[in-house]
Amino acid sequence: MSLSKCLAREQRAYLNRPRGAWGAHLVKARAFFGEALQAADPDLSVLILGAGSGLEIPWKLAPKHSVGWDADPWSRWRTCLRHQRFPDWIYDDLTGGIADLEATARRCLILPTGRHRSAEQAVRRFAGLLPSLHPRPRALEAWVAGHRPSSILVANFLGQVGSVIQKILEAIFGGAALWAEYLETTEGLAEAVDAWIVRALEALLGCLRGSRAQVWMLHDRAVIWGNVALELGRLQDPWMRQLQASTSLEVSDPLCGIDVRGQFSDRTELRFDRWLWPVDAGQLHMMEALAYSS
Ligand SMILES: C[S@@+](CC[C@H](N)C(=O)[O-])C[C@H]1O[C@@H](n2cnc3c(N)ncnc32)[C@H](O)[C@@H]1O
Repeated sequence: MSLSKCLAREQRAYLNRPRGAWGAHLVKARAFFGEALQAADPDLSVLILGAGSGLEIPWKLAPKHSVGWDADPWSRWRTCLRHQRFPDWIYDDLTGGIADLEATARRCLILPTGRHRSAEQAVRRFAGLLPSLHPRPRALEAWVAGHRPSSILVANFLGQVGSVIQKILEAIFGGAALWAEYLETTEGLAEAVDAWIVRALEALLGCLRGSRAQVWMLHDRAVIWGNVALELGRLQDPWMRQLQASTSLEVSDPLCGIDVRGQFSDRTELRFDRWLWPVDAGQLHMMEALAYSS
């Protein structure tokens, strides 16, 4: 399954979820990005990564040279319908590495003779090859170098990188149930997939840090599974301790351990906020909103 097909499907599923409990999240997200857009230089470009259908983006506040970036082929049209605005758009893979990842996975299914490998052998081979893949966001780097945006908004995209590649790999290796089994049983596979995600995110963050732009980022810091009553406590190390509940928690980390805040410690922090977003029944996201000076 190609990236654009995967994202179109994911976006449909995302927008079809019951959104009754999203109100508080959307108010905070729109206020955060609204502030970013109002702070941007009106004469320079503004780049909005993971712009999607604009649910979280108050496009009416966006300066005229604002550009959306999202590889979902319907994202710009949905933005147009939602905001009556048809911004410039880029549809490229932000990680720059998904086509390579997908091609490598597909090659693993085929023997040099042209016959098919067994799925187990293919998955083992893939786990062995993954460390040689180094995603690099070349399209983003080139755009940033060429346009020198005053602000870059990273609109709830970073936490998607891992889930998107898992969906693509599931489709290649026999479906969600089999892929989950391979992740559990194939030596080194889960670690190699996580390490690819870390390399992709670090390269993206490196590009954002290297830009002279103000950077405004909103992303999932944690996904908490099950119907649990939870509060956010004070910030402490390790960050999981801020999730306070009377029962034990099942938590996944969409950023695979990357501390985005730590990576920007040499810039002035303009905003830092956290909140809980009940995305679905039994699925609570802890969101982190961070803004840094240029
Ligand atoms: C949670 S949604 C963001 C929602 C959006 N901010 C809004 O206001 O509607 C994440 C977005 O990232 C996009 N995305 C995910 N992986 C991508 C990639 N590798 N390259 C480009 N866009 C990607 C998806 O298509 C999706 O629209």
